[in-house]
Amino acid sequence: MTTFSAFRVEIPDAGNPPESHIRQLHIDDLSPGDTLIKVAYAGVNYKDALAANGQGKIIRDHPRITGIDLSGHIVSSENGQLKEGDPVVVHGFGLGVEHDGGHAQYARVSSDWVLPLPARLTLREAATLGAAGYTAALALHWMEQCGLNPEQGEVTITGATGGVASIAIDILNHCGYQTVAITGKHAAHDYLKKLGATRVMEVSDLEPKGPLASGQWAGAIDSVGGPVLAWLLRTTKPEGVITAFGNAGGARLDTSVFPFILRGVKLLGINAGGPIALRRKIWDKLATVYRPDHLDDICQVISLDNLPQVTKQMLERKSTGRNVIDMAL
Ligand SMILES: NC(=O)c1ccc[n+]([C@@H]2O[C@H](COP(=O)([O-])OP(=O)(O)OC[C@H]3O[C@@H](n4cnc5c(N)ncnc54)[C@H](OP(=O)(O)O)[C@@H]3O)[C@@H](O)[C@H]2O)c1
Repeated sequence: MTTFSAFRVEIPDAGNPPESHIRQLHIDDLSPGDTLIKVAYAGVNYKDALAANGQGKIIRDHPRITGIDLSGHIVSSENGQLKEGDPVVVHGFGLGVEHDGGHAQYARVSSDWVLPLPARLTLREAATLGAAGYTAALALHWMEQCGLNPEQGEVTITGATGGVASIAIDILNHCGYQTVAITGKHAAHDYLKKLGATRVMEVSDLEPKGPLASGQWAGAIDSVGGPVLAWLLRTTKPEGVITAFGNAGGARLDTSVFPFILRGVKLLGINAGGPIALRRKIWDKLATVYRPDHLDDICQVISLDNLPQVTKQMLERKSTGRNVIDMAL
């Protein structure tokens, strides 16, 4: 019987807080599904960091293997469309939250969740992108649907050294946009410029006051939420468009209606958990017109054993870019 390694969040005794352990498991220990995947790589996302450390009430049913995205090869499937050895990508649909996720050498999922690995992407590149790259690309896709283009001016990206934001800077640079990276990390300027940021601002430089300030941004991609998102609303140009998907800096939004009714600023919500047809379309863009140029600079390859330490660094705001687990290490 196949035995494999998995990072699992467990409740040791009823009423006690969750604990994380690397366990040796069997396929029958996994959540049910019609498709078995040998995981090659899996990303580490902010949501995974919360889940692995028992924060944010991400996981409600224990035990649970974390990991909201993965890439790997089909081992077997009851769906005739999927053949042994096919390279695939899976993210979302409750993976790593309500269903055992990618932080294991095997995953058993529904074939309805499985995307073929796009041509021109390797399994490692696909995992470097993962849910983060999908979110960054989805944000730009919807901004462009609202009329954003590189001629309209600078686009700002907050939480800039994070996984989603690093990929967003890279994609926008590839597409010819001028980007302003906003970070809380003084030492990260060189990293952000290397990804293509036109200039870098620090969170400590943001002016906190007033219902409206001078409009600076044609667009904004926000990982942070809270006061930073409120500041973006005050400082976005007339007809500018903001995408919001994160809450790393807070879930409350204290704002006014003035950016909307006086400037026509558009605030778009982004949810990576959209339908499979949209995922196919956005992954196709990620592999072609939105393809980032600096994935090797963004990616740190780690082993499953490194995962506890890396998730703690993410919650302490000490990580940069994307951490990707190589299941063969
Ligand atoms: N809605 C969706 O479907 C969806 C999909 C993907 C991600 N998300 C969310 O998007 C956010 C980013 O995800 P990620 O995977 O890119 O996370 P990440 O890699 O941990 O990056 C988050 C970045 O936000 C900044 N940050 C962290 N803590 C902060 C704080 N207390 N105050 C202000 N800024 C802080 C840091 O950047 P600097 O130090 O450079 O400022 C950090 O690198 C998370 O909230 C995540 O849950 C949502």
